[in-house]
Amino acid sequence: MKKIASIFKSSEEKLEFYKDCFFSKETIEKGIFASISKFNEQNYDANMFNRYLAMIRAVSLMYQHLHWITAGDSFYSDHLLYERLYKKLSEEIDEVAEKFIGLSSTESACPIQTTKIASDLLSSLFPGFETNSDSNTFAAYALYLEIMFLELNNAFYKKLSETNISLGLDDMVMSIHNSHEENVYLLKQKFKVQNIKN
Ligand SMILES: [Fe+2]
Repeated sequence: MKKIASIFKSSEEKLEFYKDCFFSKETIEKGIFASISKFNEQNYDANMFNRYLAMIRAVSLMYQHLHWITAGDSFYSDHLLYERLYKKLSEEIDEVAEKFIGLSSTESACPIQTTKIASDLLSSLFPGFETNSDSNTFAAYALYLEIMFLELNNAFYKKLSETNISLGLDDMVMSIHNSHEENVYLLKQKFKVQNIKN
C-alpha cells in the first residue's frame, strides 16, 4: 500500500495543529461577526430599499399584465415582447431583493409593504387605466413607466453614493440601469413601427 506522507512529525503535533485551528477559527468568526454588525450600520435604509423594490415590482407587474391583455394587429409581437420584459425583470427583482436583505434587513422585502407601495404607485401613475386600450396606449404606458424607473434609479444611485456604496450594489444598480435603457430602446422601436402603420 502506498504510504501517504504526513505534514506532521508526530500525532501530538497534529493534535496541536487542530487545537490551533479551532482556536483561530473561533477568533476569525468573532472578527467576522464584529465586521458584519458594523456592515449593518452602514446607513442602508431598509425602507428606502423597500420603496425601490416596490417600484421595480410595479414595472414587472405592468409588463406581465400587458403580456396578457394586449390585443390587436401587433398582438403576437407585443405578447412576446412583454413576456421577454417581465421575465428579465423577474430575475432582476430576485437579485435586488436578495441584495437588499443582505445589506439591510428582511424589512426591505416585506411582502405587504412592497405590494402596497407597488399598488399605490401604479394607481397614482395610471388613474384611468383601461384594460381594453389599444396596443399603442399600452406601449406608451410601459415607456412612461420605464422612464420613471430610470429617473428613480438615477436618484437611488445618487443617494447611495452619498455614503460608501458597496461595489456589489454599485454594480447591480448600474447593470439594472443598462438593462432598462435597453427596454426603452425596445419600446421606442415598437412605437416607430406602430406610428408608421397609423
Ligand atoms: Fe404567457
